[in-house]
Amino acid sequence: MTLRDHLAAAVQTLRVAGVPSPEVDARALVLHALNLSPTAFLLRGSEEVAGADAERLGELIRQRAARTPLQHLLGMVDWGGVQLRVDGRALIPRPETEWLLHLALADLNGVSAPRVVDVGTGTGALALGVKMARPDAAVLGVDLSSEALALAGENAALNVMDVVFVESDLLANIPGTFDLILANLPYLPDADRAHADPEVRHDPDLALYSGPDGLLLARRLIPQAHTALTESGLLWLELDPRNAPAFAAELRAQGWAVTLHADLTGRERFVRAELTPLTPR
Ligand SMILES: C[S@@+](CC[C@H](N)C(=O)[O-])C[C@H]1O[C@@H](n2cnc3c(N)ncnc32)[C@H](O)[C@@H]1O
Repeated sequence: MTLRDHLAAAVQTLRVAGVPSPEVDARALVLHALNLSPTAFLLRGSEEVAGADAERLGELIRQRAARTPLQHLLGMVDWGGVQLRVDGRALIPRPETEWLLHLALADLNGVSAPRVVDVGTGTGALALGVKMARPDAAVLGVDLSSEALALAGENAALNVMDVVFVESDLLANIPGTFDLILANLPYLPDADRAHADPEVRHDPDLALYSGPDGLLLARRLIPQAHTALTESGLLWLELDPRNAPAFAAELRAQGWAVTLHADLTGRERFVRAELTPLTPR
């Protein structure tokens, strides 16, 4: 079979398996399995692919058809300006979270040598993304999962970056104050577990669910953030568009100055909160 034949067969296999983007995934796996650049792929479409190459590709396509996430099969993602190793130890960083990084970084303009903490760091995505954009920042990533922290440490080494990762239940073990607290914590209602996509089942449960309305952890973080923010410090949270407006209202009722921000699909998902003189200390 030629390269083109393998690609067509892979697309068909993935389509039958219900994979949402069979063409994109099949092409990515063909390039990965055969270690081809996009240009080489275009030029070598009529070449025969057999033996170990064909077997390696077949195995990847079988795993993707069984709904192993594409990112786990590729092993790496480009995210927020950094290269991240991804596997079952931590949530695969999502594209919408890159927008949180973008929004929060804009708030650091004019703050020199900011102190930043990423609560629930997972692969280290946000922490490393901040450090890449702002090498002058002192960045800490915390997580409850020692497995996630091991992966985050590997990602810091991979990108040759000086970010400290610490095991903590939210900010419970973290002394000091911060100019920016970033938190993409679990925010799905527990009931979502029953109808999660097959790929999402490869993310750790600890990374996904947060009580009946998805806000359990965000609510627990607030008093800690209150103590840990500098006077002009900012808290940025990613939530579910179903619960972000309700959480923003809760924070306003507690005296925080809050704005809601949309993701690139127009859904209000990000909460920016700062202390005001009305927020009781
Ligand atoms: C939705 S994932 C986000 C990972 C990463 N920030 C990202 O954007 O890709 C949430 C992370 O929060 C961590 N987590 C869950 N409960 C926690 C807690 N009580 N304290 C600290 N981290 C927690 C999970 O282990 C997981 O890594």
